[in-house]
Amino acid sequence: MFTISNCKKLAVNEYEFWVKAPQIASKAKAGQFVILRIDEFGERLPLTIVDSDKQAGKIHLIFQVVGKSTAALAELCDGDFLKDLVGPLGKATEIKNYGNVLLVGGGVGIAALYPIVKELKKAGNYVITVLGAKTEDLVILERECKEISDELYVMTDDGSAGEKGLVTDAMSKILTHQTINFCWAIGPSVMMKFCTLTADKYDLPIYVSLNPIMIDGTGMCGGCRVTIADSIKFACVDGPEFLGSEVHWDEFISRMAQYNEEEALSYDQLKR
Ligand code: FES
Repeated sequence: MFTISNCKKLAVNEYEFWVKAPQIASKAKAGQFVILRIDEFGERLPLTIVDSDKQAGKIHLIFQVVGKSTAALAELCDGDFLKDLVGPLGKATEIKNYGNVLLVGGGVGIAALYPIVKELKKAGNYVITVLGAKTEDLVILERECKEISDELYVMTDDGSAGEKGLVTDAMSKILTHQTINFCWAIGPSVMMKFCTLTADKYDLPIYVSLNPIMIDGTGMCGGCRVTIADSIKFACVDGPEFLGSEVHWDEFISRMAQYNEEEALSYDQLKR
């Protein structure tokens, strides 16, 4: 029984909760994820582990409602439970002292970025964080990131929080004035692609975290395959982090949109 607690709405369509999962909490590292199912007929949902409390045996998850399964997940309340929870999955982020690091998060991707910000700071890096969202109310974990970052910048599409503009605008400004040794970008696929192109201009190595459809999470089904440096890799076991410059972005973005029609149909049926 994976009982959930502390269910909260964080922003429009974004929710958080903690799940009782002592074995996962005892092993989870930054960059890793879990796959969950709400019930035996449920879709398998991969979610990054935002935080873990080893003593309480709980992990923290944040998700965005994007379709039927995530809408059903948002309906769960304290005391409800998940049918299945598997993890921690994927390779952990390589945490070490790189020097000056730039971390860029967009939308709900900020949830996946936050544990990396935390661990890189603990490892002694000078941490510059850029958070981006459409509007102020969609900027999540700003206070938490601010507490641990040496510098924090917020970018919104409409200028309702921080500066008006894209995260890549902030990246360019920072990279013009400061030497950065390593970068991470986590968010929508198109954002990660353009963060990679921006980093490339400055010869800055950048990691991105890919979130394709996942089924088994063990490298067996091939559902999460991605092309990295002209080779097929599985995001669930070889990733989810890859060097942005090696990702075949057009293929990845098109695969991410593969089931949009079916997803929209299924979500519409749920709402009726
Ligand atoms: Fe099946 Fe990765 S989820 S191979």
